[in-house]
Amino acid sequence: MKMQTDRRYDRFAPDRPAHRDSGRTSAIPARHATLTNRSDIFLPPMPCPRVDLEQACRLLRLGRPVAIPTETVYGLAADARLDRAVASVYQLKGRPAFNPLISHVHSIDWASRIAHLDPRATRLLETFSPGPLTLVLPARLDSPHKVCDLARANLNTIAIRIPNHPIALSLLERFDGPLAAPSANRSNRISPTRPEHVDDEFNQSTTEAEARVPVLDGGPCTVGLESTVLDLTLPLARVLRPGAITHAMLRPFVDLDDRAPCATDSPNPPDIAIEHPRSPGQLPVHYAPQTPAIRFEIDQLPRAIARCKTNPIRRGLLWCHTSPADAAFTSSFQSILQLSSDPAHASRELYQSLRALDSRGLDELLVCMPASSDATLALRDRLIRATRPID
Ligand code: TXA
Ligand code: MG
Repeated sequence: MKMQTDRRYDRFAPDRPAHRDSGRTSAIPARHATLTNRSDIFLPPMPCPRVDLEQACRLLRLGRPVAIPTETVYGLAADARLDRAVASVYQLKGRPAFNPLISHVHSIDWASRIAHLDPRATRLLETFSPGPLTLVLPARLDSPHKVCDLARANLNTIAIRIPNHPIALSLLERFDGPLAAPSANRSNRISPTRPEHVDDEFNQSTTEAEARVPVLDGGPCTVGLESTVLDLTLPLARVLRPGAITHAMLRPFVDLDDRAPCATDSPNPPDIAIEHPRSPGQLPVHYAPQTPAIRFEIDQLPRAIARCKTNPIRRGLLWCHTSPADAAFTSSFQSILQLSSDPAHASRELYQSLRALDSRGLDELLVCMPASSDATLALRDRLIRATRPID
């Protein structure tokens, strides 16, 4: 049991050089007493289920869900045309039925069978696909391949994406149909960027009777944040969710409505879901660790220091700013992770880092936000949704 416990936590250990664990995290063994108790309860008695391409395809054809790799995050995939398959995805995730899913396809030809592509959409797909761009388009409700109402949350629009992952593309080609795939995490939790994260979400059950999700292992995700969602159903295109395809990259191709709901570029963003019902998935609390998480901007550092002084509880620090953290300040934390100063690398590391800190049985996480720019918009968006602002 001891060995298994250690393995479980090793899986969370940062393993890329860019993902710098501060020296203090090497003091982690001292914290294992708490962690051991927690993991003893949730440890799977059976190996986590893995499938190959052929098995994944067979299960999907039977209407069963399978977790699949993409370049952004792992998706919980099901045949987008089958109501009952899609229903099992909503049920596994605990996702509200008003929040539609993205349909994944492997070619523009397939995209045109389930959505009406205008010249803007075709040009964007030709430029950015396969890649981390999702387009919201009018759905083709007359098509023999029509994506089911449930996957679209009964909207007459549909979100489509061609993922840039060789295994996902091979699977889609072999499956020869659209796969509805939300991120393979339980609703409002941190998205999975590694197969083990999917296991932590769905495969910790102790009995065989409980649902377990087969995983098609494609290694760690290279982008690490969910795709940019671009709404093309109005004359002015709108980014509903920022991602690796930035506003600056999109502007040469479309006129963008800058009153975007994702413009969470202030320390205290408005209540996005209420103000912008067009993007049903953009709930204000999302991607959240279970440990209470508080964010601060670099110019709010004095407040963070005061918080640590007045209430010395067991804290973790996620430092996402490019300037180095002050040594006197960092000494108040049990665990510290620093993201890369390169926004693309930082994006790849974010969810793994949040999961690692979340697994350490801390009382609170403090997050120092990255400076605001076009390149950090998606990173800031996810961090804002994962945290609440410092008092
Ligand atoms: O990178 C990604 O996009 C990942 C991978 C697996 O492809 N998928 C993903 O799916 O993040 P999900 O379900 O977690 O997020 C889909 C987002 C939600 O915010 C949802 O509201 C929005 O896309 N969406 C889907 N269909 C829509 C529609 N018809 N109109 C507006 N928003 C839509
Ligand atoms: Mg999601």
